[in-house]
Amino acid sequence: MDPQQLHKYLDQMKVVEVKLGHVDGIPLIQTTCDMWDKFQNFQAREDDLLIATYPKAGTTWMQEIVDLIMLQGDVEKSMRAPGYVKVPFLDLNPKPMPSGVDAANAMPSPRVLKTHMPIKLVPPSFWEKNCKVIYVARNAKDIMVSYFYFQKLNLRLPDPGTWNEYFSTFLAGDVAWGSWFDHVIDWWKAKEEHRILYVFYEDIIEDPKREIRKIAKFMEQEVSDEVLETIHHHTSFEVMKDNPMANFTTLPPEVFDQSISKFMRKGKVGDWKNHFLVSQNIVFDEEYRKRMEGSGLTFREEL
Ligand code: A3P
Repeated sequence: MDPQQLHKYLDQMKVVEVKLGHVDGIPLIQTTCDMWDKFQNFQAREDDLLIATYPKAGTTWMQEIVDLIMLQGDVEKSMRAPGYVKVPFLDLNPKPMPSGVDAANAMPSPRVLKTHMPIKLVPPSFWEKNCKVIYVARNAKDIMVSYFYFQKLNLRLPDPGTWNEYFSTFLAGDVAWGSWFDHVIDWWKAKEEHRILYVFYEDIIEDPKREIRKIAKFMEQEVSDEVLETIHHHTSFEVMKDNPMANFTTLPPEVFDQSISKFMRKGKVGDWKNHFLVSQNIVFDEEYRKRMEGSGLTFREEL
């Protein structure tokens, strides 16, 4: 999208009424439901790379890493446009901007695309074309806190209410894109059938270079030590938080009101400890035990 056109769209973005609808039992933003056939019929191409995540798992971080791997660490080129233009978000239909599907259709290959869909709602063409997918997973407690603040600042998602209210809403899976539990488990199982690299947010925090190498290998890209160093630096929390192409400050306050909370908020493992009451932690751990039993999946809630 050319920068002038982008500015025109951004100027026209207003506060809109927020509604969630449902598809196959999954709560989704109503405007996503409105384009459902178009979304399901999206035509993936063989060399597409899909970044799939539950919201707040580190999607934007992965987008920057992947983009810089493809560019062999060319930071200047990576600043060509905001992340949401470089990597179309297929699920969105954010008038007056083109829908994610339209933006992707207009893009030359090779494309990097983003979705928050549970695997059962991903357009089937991704599997028909045997596309590669990078799935980023993050522990539910930190996601819950991050999503709570995100629903406050993102005026196109429902107001989360109080923290105590949100705790119940989130555990019930009554948030856009549905239950965290089903999301992480179903994508985990799908690794057996599809070309999916399943990456944990906590692992990237623990050893970013190790994980960047793993991602590059999956993408069949060689990265020298020098390039790795550049990617590591440019995708650190400290650098990304001041990068207007990554921190969403290009969006008007009618869409993301960052005076409420910053998009690049904390970027840590374990911030949930500053929010969960002791009683909430007990309730959460019990639910977690029941839902995750036998899944073979383990998450780290602290490092
Ligand atoms: P917090 O709200 O916990 O700070 P998404 O892109 O999926 O919406 O995820 C956003 C979360 O990822 C936010 O978490 C954000 O701060 C964090 N994040 C983004 N870039 C990061 C980076 N370079 N390092 C660590 N965390 C990052």
